[in-house]
Amino acid sequence: MLYEIQTYGKEVLRTPTQVIPEITEEIKEIVSNMFETMYAAEGIGLAAPQVGKSLRLFVIDLAPMDETEGKRVFINPQIHSFGDDRDEYEEGCLSIPTIREIVTRPSSIRVSWQDLEGQKFDEEIDGFLARVIQHEYDHLEKTLFVDHLSSLKRSLLKKTLKKIASGEIEVEASENFEL
Ligand code: NI
Repeated sequence: MLYEIQTYGKEVLRTPTQVIPEITEEIKEIVSNMFETMYAAEGIGLAAPQVGKSLRLFVIDLAPMDETEGKRVFINPQIHSFGDDRDEYEEGCLSIPTIREIVTRPSSIRVSWQDLEGQKFDEEIDGFLARVIQHEYDHLEKTLFVDHLSSLKRSLLKKTLKKIASGEIEVEASENFEL
């Protein structure tokens, strides 16, 4: 089942998310639908708030960029620390169609999470995956990538953001690997 992707301006993107106490059939169903929704939109990452669910959960599949990658599910993720190095990358977000901006982020993180079977992980991750995890994790923390931009940059985007919030600009599948 495809979910509707919630776009900039929707309250659910700014709503606190709940820890998932148990990986029930319902959670598995949500995860399956999130992958379906993400693939339909040609995204490579999708967080639960983006489909209207205030849960601490996101999915990632970097296969379109890296064929050694595949489906990854992050349940109750927690970022414990950030590396000292920073890098820049032009990010996009399925919830903020048409806007892409350079975002500076730590290039490595230590993150723990559970997978769909409930197995626990705690790893140091760097490279592009670390960036995507930080972007999706931000969604769980009510933060959007445009929040990381300078106030000047944000003011330049104001008009476009308003159009997204009013529904004038809609989500469209693009080949830009949106998050
Ligand atoms: Ni996003």
